[in-house]
Amino acid sequence: MTERVSVMKILVVFGTRPEAIKMCPVIKELKIHDEIETIVCVTGQHKEMLNPILDTFQISADYNMDVMRSRQSLFDITKDVLIKMRAIVQEEKPDIVLVHGDTTSAFAAALASFYMKIPVCHVEAGLRTYDQYSPYPEEFNRQAVDAISALFFAPTEAAKNNLIKEGKIKENIYVTGNTAIDALDITVSDQYTHELLQWADKSRLILLTAHRRENLGSSMINMFSAVRETMEEFEDIKVICPMHLNPDVREIVREQLGSMNRVKLTEPLDVVDFHNIMKRSYMVMTDSGGIQEEAPALGKPVLVMRNTTERPEGVRAGTLKLIGTEKESIKTAMCELLTNKKLYQTMAESKNPYGDGKASKRIVQALLDRWEKQDVWRL
Ligand code: UD1
Ligand code: UDP
Repeated sequence: MTERVSVMKILVVFGTRPEAIKMCPVIKELKIHDEIETIVCVTGQHKEMLNPILDTFQISADYNMDVMRSRQSLFDITKDVLIKMRAIVQEEKPDIVLVHGDTTSAFAAALASFYMKIPVCHVEAGLRTYDQYSPYPEEFNRQAVDAISALFFAPTEAAKNNLIKEGKIKENIYVTGNTAIDALDITVSDQYTHELLQWADKSRLILLTAHRRENLGSSMINMFSAVRETMEEFEDIKVICPMHLNPDVREIVREQLGSMNRVKLTEPLDVVDFHNIMKRSYMVMTDSGGIQEEAPALGKPVLVMRNTTERPEGVRAGTLKLIGTEKESIKTAMCELLTNKKLYQTMAESKNPYGDGKASKRIVQALLDRWEKQDVWRL
């Protein structure tokens, strides 16, 4: 039997709401193991939208780079994270850096690790649209992170196949499921109640979000005006729209939906509220990535207001429908889902393709196995 080499020091870096929701289950699993020392570093790319998630999952950050500024640019985030990461890596000397997904925090943290020759391991690796402006800049970010990663935690076989096609070594790719499903196991409860659910009680509830950078402007105006116009035709629907804190998003939402009395525009919801309200909703409309993974697990049809998706599994399973960002296409898709019972049933009953809620365990086990073999740490 091989003897354990030593304690493995892992620096986990993330900065936005969805990364926090999907990395907290991994951190909780890492912390179970005495053979691992876990250092949690948040970039602070998000602030108000990030901190409550750490509280919910009872995780405290060892470092907070605190980079967020109002209306921050990609330049701001990239340079601040890159420079601040250097000092933290110098201080901690981790054996690996673990990043998630496709944000600019993940990209800049991975780049800094690469510059300092620390192996990067990528959670939610291999998602692709192969259109570098959609989503923007996420498609570039995830390809760039994968270009320098040592180990790849692919949520699905399709993601693994993308990585293999790009020439990544098969033995370094682990299909784990998506850690978003692990998070749902922690947040969703049958006993959950909320005043918003009482407000929507007798109606069909649509949960609505949008925030993507490439949709700011006319596409986002199309989304919210399509919802407003369709609502006029269906008196039994109510809409909950938790507004992203980006001021440019909020301006459009308020302008298009602010005067509707069957619409609640709220602050970003706590993750427990959001997941449970999604579970009680009739359908979801969004341009979000993470919501495309959660909704299939909760049996909720999703109209994806984008032209591309890196989550084709949900489309193939039947839960997600890609409807573009034109006003007419959005209105048509809404009307169809609100009137065609058979279509609704088919979308609601399809099978969740994103895993069994044990992704974090698989990720941590793979890290331990590789640490024991010491075969990704030779640079
Ligand atoms: C970021 C990610 C995106 C991810 C999204 C999740 C990049 C380039 N974008 O986009 O991939 O889908 O997070 O939500 O990495 N703001 C606050 N408080 C907060 C968070 C944001 O006030 O807690 C405001 C600030 O004005 C900030 C703006 O929102 O400048 C935009 O935030 P930013 O992280 O740049 O973009 P997101 O659209 O959130
Ligand atoms: N979410 C939340 N509160 C909200 C809106 C979304 O907790 O008010 C959660 C949602 O359940 C999902 C994640 O935030 O886990 C998605 O974040 P977002 O849409 O901002 O980013 P993306 O997934 O598109 O990168």
